[in-house]
Amino acid sequence: MTAYLIRNVSVVGAEPTDLLIRDGLVAEAGAGLTAPDATVLDATGLVALPGLVDLHTHLREPGREDAETVESGSRAAALGGYTAVCAMANTSPVADTAGVVEQVWRLGREAGLVDVQPIGAVTVGLAGERLAELGAMADSAARVRIFSDDGHCVADPRLMRRALEYVKAFDGVVAQHAEEPRLTEGAQMHEGEVSTRLGLAGWPAVAEEAIIARDVLLAEHVGSRLHICHVSTAGSVEVLRQAKTRGVRVTAEVTPHHLLLTDEKAASYDPVFKVNPPLRTATDIAALRAALADGVIDIIATDHAPHAVEDKECEWAYARPGMLGLETALSIALDVLGPQWDLIAERMSRAPARIAGLDSHGLDPAPGVPANLTLVDPAARRVIEPAELASRSRNTPYARMTLPGRIVATFLRGEPTVLDGKAVK
Ligand code: DOR
Ligand code: ZN
Repeated sequence: MTAYLIRNVSVVGAEPTDLLIRDGLVAEAGAGLTAPDATVLDATGLVALPGLVDLHTHLREPGREDAETVESGSRAAALGGYTAVCAMANTSPVADTAGVVEQVWRLGREAGLVDVQPIGAVTVGLAGERLAELGAMADSAARVRIFSDDGHCVADPRLMRRALEYVKAFDGVVAQHAEEPRLTEGAQMHEGEVSTRLGLAGWPAVAEEAIIARDVLLAEHVGSRLHICHVSTAGSVEVLRQAKTRGVRVTAEVTPHHLLLTDEKAASYDPVFKVNPPLRTATDIAALRAALADGVIDIIATDHAPHAVEDKECEWAYARPGMLGLETALSIALDVLGPQWDLIAERMSRAPARIAGLDSHGLDPAPGVPANLTLVDPAARRVIEPAELASRSRNTPYARMTLPGRIVATFLRGEPTVLDGKAVK
């Protein structure tokens, strides 16, 4: 195994130092290290972060390998600075059995670019009718701890309660896609001034807020862990703030796109901006940013949702919701938060690793720690060219935008997955 001596790197924004990576670990840290056998990387001007962890990634394997595979999604993740991703269950077949989650987990290991941690479905086939085999998935080689019907809401309160009770036995967490389906029938975009002007059916904020309010009460009643996917409204933030003040075991994520883009984007009728939950208003964005700063929102998660051209480049009403995220998330975080490295490390690595129970991830580079880390050039700016992305899909909402920051290198257990901004394999 090659050793790497990373010279002059700022670890999470601190004064520059050297890091020696050997045998999968950060072996030493300090100024003026020497290691004759090591490959030297000059990291002057670069920032080292604990490898990013995405709690919400859609890989499309099995079923839609034309849109993404475990391998292509893993490569996109590594290029985005990630060392671990949690793969959502809405594949085909659905990841609702030990067999399917083990398949995804095995494909992740074979690709070897990031740790792929499968998420299991809450209900059989995501149909919202019967609980899936949560225990069998938890006991499988994939050791599933997060369960989600994401893409669909677990709308039945009785099923939601039973799922919360069930996962308590192994300290699991239910990740809810909060959308009261009766309030979003036919919805095409955020319900508000812009939807009225465009004549598109609206997805009201209350459809999200009502489910979050219900589920924090259920989680409180049962004493279980609840996670809320892609929080998108100011009202949701207030519900979560109250729940956290009462000590409810709830965590929440926000996506990069909900921190940056507004519902005005729908006026272009370009389906690249169609996403679920929909892009909201500038007021919602301000509340989400404040909640990310004060901790009511725990993490940034990408909701990386690759879609094939025929599912995306069609009329708005027929297009699938979702946008790419893995290769641009850190740049959007830098744009939104500025160089607040400790906050970025917390929201994009440490906290998601804790929520997912990924013990070897989310640790700041220091002697003895597994060498899962990424090197960022904060001064670089890059133009996003969809054709240059490693994802098999092209549905980025940031096409031809100039974004700050560039991932220079990523290490997974001491082995580079990205060097010089390029995937190693
Ligand atoms: O926009 C979305 N796309 N939201 C979801 O909840 C699911 C996802 C997908 O699977 O494409
Ligand atoms: Zn979702």
